[in-house]
Amino acid sequence: MANTKSIHGEWSSRFAYILAATGSAVGLGNIWKFPYITGENGGGAFVLVYLGCVLAIGIPIMIAETMMGRRGRQSPINTLSTLSIEAGADKNWHYLGWMGVIAGMLILSYYSVIAGWASAYVIKAFFGGFSSDALEVKAVFDELIASPKQLVFWHTAFMIVTMSVVMRGVNGGLEKAVRFLMPTLFVLLMLLVAYAMTTGEFYFKGISFLFDPDFSEIDGDAVLTAMGHAFFTLGLGMGAIMVYGSYLPSDVSIAKTTLYIAGADTIVALLAGMAIFPLVFANGLEPGSGPGLIFQTLPIAFGSMMGGWLFGVLFFVLLVLAALTSSISLIEPAVAWLVENKGFSRVKASIVSGCGTWLLGICVAFSFNIWSDIKLFDKTIFDLLDYLTANLMLPIGGFCIAVFAGWIMKQKHVEDELSLPEEQFKIWKILVSYVAPISVFLVFLHVLGIF
Ligand code: PFF
Repeated sequence: MANTKSIHGEWSSRFAYILAATGSAVGLGNIWKFPYITGENGGGAFVLVYLGCVLAIGIPIMIAETMMGRRGRQSPINTLSTLSIEAGADKNWHYLGWMGVIAGMLILSYYSVIAGWASAYVIKAFFGGFSSDALEVKAVFDELIASPKQLVFWHTAFMIVTMSVVMRGVNGGLEKAVRFLMPTLFVLLMLLVAYAMTTGEFYFKGISFLFDPDFSEIDGDAVLTAMGHAFFTLGLGMGAIMVYGSYLPSDVSIAKTTLYIAGADTIVALLAGMAIFPLVFANGLEPGSGPGLIFQTLPIAFGSMMGGWLFGVLFFVLLVLAALTSSISLIEPAVAWLVENKGFSRVKASIVSGCGTWLLGICVAFSFNIWSDIKLFDKTIFDLLDYLTANLMLPIGGFCIAVFAGWIMKQKHVEDELSLPEEQFKIWKILVSYVAPISVFLVFLHVLGIF
């Protein structure tokens, strides 16, 4: 029989859960990653594939993953053991939970380095380090990432803050932070979009780059990146939303809350794109210039507008906070497992998992400068970790979650947990049993050159 409550606590309300899960979804993925991978993959067609993946694959799997978490009420590893016993299935399913724990720590190792860049930019904005000149702005960015000391410093600071929040548990602080964070972030993004409208390149270049699909621009790898990003941005496939679902009160509708969260996440990403691409074109920059894209464009806006330093500080503070609410969910599966299985206190569990992640993060920081020549499969440590997690581990994890929810769990248990009207349940069931896993499978076959 499934537990009715998690030993780690429970969200105080439906709204609290929506805030926390939105906090996990909205992060660097929306504001930093979405624009630069869109730029690297030619724009509109890539965006369309990404949106299609969110709808047909991401949302059904998000419902499945949350549902499994709430039924199991434990860390993803133990939830998968419990649920496979309940379904009379093979116990090896719990290895899926392990893959998630590892993926979470790998992602956090580079996520924290990028969050460190954003932290450094808070200070730069405050001391008037931004200008309206694209070359000067680029020089500021290049100087930052060339400095191993600065990157390690900011990465360390970000990891310390993450660990200290995680130690306090899911209810302390997190709910309050997100409640203020999301609306303010939204307003600031609107302000940036409004600024982008004044650049003269808004409709014909910026918006058309983002929304006019040209399918000749994308290949199998771009489709894999778009699909991987759908998992990454929603925080799926590694147990983050499963662990958040395990703290979800029993009477909350999982499907409805998932739609809100996915909707908010998508809107934030599109707004970020609408703010950034007009600036890219108005300043003669390269859309495909890589992970530095937002750091080389947004400061131009802040450097040119009135009171820009203040908006700049606020924006980067919010970006760091948005990253923080995501990093907490990246490490929570590991922490919950250490508490449940090793009898660690939350404090000890957070320190142990945080320190491992921090060490790996140092290698990532070096991969932008002194170790930039170290390459495997032609990828730096950062590129490799990003590819491995977002393009492979999360989609594989998501595929297995879809199979588990669609084929392994007893229909009756799934129905109980979701309590959806019959028609809606049928639609979800088709999406999660067929559409999502088959699509992921086909994309993999395509990238391998088999299909
Ligand atoms: N969704 C987060 C973002 O878009 O920045 C990143 C993330 C969080 C990925 C949680 C994976 C995850 F499990």
